[in-house]
Amino acid sequence: MSTNRIPFNKPCLAGNELEYMAQAVQNLHISGDGAFTRKCHTWLEEELGIRKALLTTSCTHALEMSAFLLDIQPGDEVIVPSFTFVSTVNAFVIRGARPVFVDIHPDTLDLDETKLEDLITSRTRAILVVHYAGVGCEMDTILEIAQKHHLVVVEDNAHGLFGKFKGRFLGTFGALATQSFHETKNVSCGEGGALLINDLLYSERAEILREKGTNRSRFFRGQVDKYTWVDMGSSYLPSDILAAYLYAQFEKAAEIQGKRKRIWEAYFTGLRDWAELYSIGLPYVPDTCTQPYHMFYILLPSVECRQALIEHLKLAGIQAVFHYLPLHTSEMGVRFGGKPGDCPVTEQISDRLLRLPFFNDLSDAELDRVLEGVKGFRF
Ligand SMILES: Cc1ncc(COP(=O)(O)O)c(C=O)c1O
Repeated sequence: MSTNRIPFNKPCLAGNELEYMAQAVQNLHISGDGAFTRKCHTWLEEELGIRKALLTTSCTHALEMSAFLLDIQPGDEVIVPSFTFVSTVNAFVIRGARPVFVDIHPDTLDLDETKLEDLITSRTRAILVVHYAGVGCEMDTILEIAQKHHLVVVEDNAHGLFGKFKGRFLGTFGALATQSFHETKNVSCGEGGALLINDLLYSERAEILREKGTNRSRFFRGQVDKYTWVDMGSSYLPSDILAAYLYAQFEKAAEIQGKRKRIWEAYFTGLRDWAELYSIGLPYVPDTCTQPYHMFYILLPSVECRQALIEHLKLAGIQAVFHYLPLHTSEMGVRFGGKPGDCPVTEQISDRLLRLPFFNDLSDAELDRVLEGVKGFRF
């Protein structure tokens, strides 16, 4: 076994993270909504063209805020891809929603918009889209269907910061969108997220919900002379120390994206011939999409083959990992009536997908080792 282990992910400092965190302390403001949080909000709004951005403690919490803001009631239905992280759906389920699972396209691994209309009922409230690996879903069709049936679109854009569909940033299509700044994301602060609000109808209530059900944000803007309990709410704002770390990463976004593009392209060109020879699937990015280089995955012929490759790489000191298990056949999914065969593409993709190490500071030598490791696998 090699001693220099290559992890799947590694947090990478981009520039001024530690200095800005110290500054947050010197500012004597380490709770939420300090100077760095405000800088992050402005940065997101200006860079992406978002009407209002609010940092949250995670993408999960931004999704919970979305379900709250849509006033999801017990028995409401939300359409969600089965191939996603539990939080996309859990956020709505904890408010009593029933998830209706939709399958994905076998090439982009994004939800299959051609299957949406058959799943809509009189109880459907929202379509939750996930831009897998930051490759945009077919947003034109999805928005058209949503409009026709009076449904709200929420984009879970955990993977897709800087990704675009037809030249427009992901996260700007839905009434609401959510970002993740978890350690594994392109831009990170360990644990963190953001709610992106494109429909300003939700703006004021979002501020209240995020601030324990109080109108504290209005108070700080001088719009009311004292703040009080005005609605339901919770505490969804991160410490300004985390916002300081995140802002330092935002400042280096172009550099980070450049590094990730290089890694993604090295994997793609390094594996193309091998993949063709052994009928291995590689990521597909349609012409309509600009991808944010969030991850690199390969699709093996079978689950046995995928598991054998994981073991083979592990022996070479390389950590490669699978991804989502289908939600419709999970313990919770079955309770909602899910059964094998409901989302056949999700079921087979979930078995076959393997993600290779991918982090900003992955070196050329490490990249070469991963490529050698993968191509040295005997089928
Ligand atoms: C699609 C998707 N949504 C939501 C999340 C949850 O993000 P967070 O850890 O910031 O809550 C993840 C986690 O990676 C994810 O993959």
